[in-house]
Amino acid sequence: MRKVAAISLVGFCFVMWMYIPFPFLIPKGFPPPVYRFQNNHRTKEGFELGRKLFYDGILSKDGNFPCSSCHQQFAAFATYEHRLSHGFNNQFSFRNSPGLFNLAWNRELHWDGGINHIEVQPLAPLLDPHEMSENLDQIIGKLKKDKLYPALFSNVFGSPGINSQRILRALAQFTASLVSADAKYDQVKRGTAQFNQYEKTGYEIFQQKCARCHQEPLFTDFSYRNTGMEMDSTLKDFGRMRITGRKEDSLKFRVPSLRNVYLTFPYGHDGRFSTISDVLEHYNSEIVESATLDSSIRKGITISENERFYLITFLGTLTDSSFVKNPLFADPRQGATDFAPADSH
Ligand code: HEC
Ligand code: HEC
Repeated sequence: MRKVAAISLVGFCFVMWMYIPFPFLIPKGFPPPVYRFQNNHRTKEGFELGRKLFYDGILSKDGNFPCSSCHQQFAAFATYEHRLSHGFNNQFSFRNSPGLFNLAWNRELHWDGGINHIEVQPLAPLLDPHEMSENLDQIIGKLKKDKLYPALFSNVFGSPGINSQRILRALAQFTASLVSADAKYDQVKRGTAQFNQYEKTGYEIFQQKCARCHQEPLFTDFSYRNTGMEMDSTLKDFGRMRITGRKEDSLKFRVPSLRNVYLTFPYGHDGRFSTISDVLEHYNSEIVESATLDSSIRKGITISENERFYLITFLGTLTDSSFVKNPLFADPRQGATDFAPADSH
């Protein structure tokens, strides 16, 4: 009798586990997300499959460059301390790797907005010869031969088969789930913490001088702007114009979020600024005139030494330690650790 009860209890738990919803929680004060897992129903199993793929070198040509090699959790999923990231065959990515969080709110992805859907985004790094340098047939072939993946895919999608759409959807279940909304700033907004005097002063200066582009609560208005950075003569990156072909878009880049900004250095689309202080000095005195320069900063943004101190102190309240330590987003392989920080560039 007891045995029967035990079996039915296990059975009940299993059924519950199958049906426990895995809701995507929208943080208080955030606008509605753009990506709502339409046609890609979010489940714990789907998320776990995406997470496993994200951390698995199998998706790259030589096995050495999983997504996580350039997107490291302790750096809020940017590349720690690198201007550009290492990819296949000792090559470098074209741009500085952004942190990955709150992606479900992005209408477009990448510094130039060249990708308009989170489910197609992985094609860029997967196929880029400087990044993972692989092709889809090879990836599908490798996953099909793997001991675990066929069953995992079948379990998530309800029928056997591994194809590119399923791979991309699984990856999106993970990347779109990376929500960061528990920094001190958020706690202050929720009324569970208080800014100290320096942070408060910094916040006020931020609202006056920065928030029109780095708009709260995501700390970006998702627009593309030319902030007067002289074009790097080797990279020759025209930004948004590469996508639209319009000369009005020359040298414009997406306003990056400043959440977790202490962790995502170096800064700028090509990682040219090592510190936040360098970025502020740029706004203060190094803006280069050009036809598409944002008219609001044509004269620069005057930032005194004191203001710089307060601003940087405020930006520290955007660090979300629980996000970068969240075991749910960590490498699922037992005993795995984040890639060790390599030497800087
Ligand atoms: C070799 C380093 C490298 C690898 C490997 C890599 N990425 Fe990236 N990732 C980058 C860089 C650099 C960018 C910025 C690209 C740009 O703006 O042109 C980026 C951008 C992104 C973005 C857009 C973020 C935003 O704010 O717009 C997402 C999402 C992303 N990567 C996910 C992934 C996934 C998923 C994988 C694995 C399939 C992956 N990346 C593999 C370097 C890498
Ligand atoms: C006119 C819009 C605008 C204003 C105003 C503005 N920013 Fe920016 N900010 C941008 C854009 C666009 C970038 C990306 C530039 C690039 O790399 O091409 C950026 C980049 C940054 C970065 C680098 C982030 C990273 O991840 O690479 C920091 C830090 C930053 N801004 C802080 C500030 C602060 C602090 C202020 C106020 C003093 C401010 N910004 C005002 C548009 C703006």
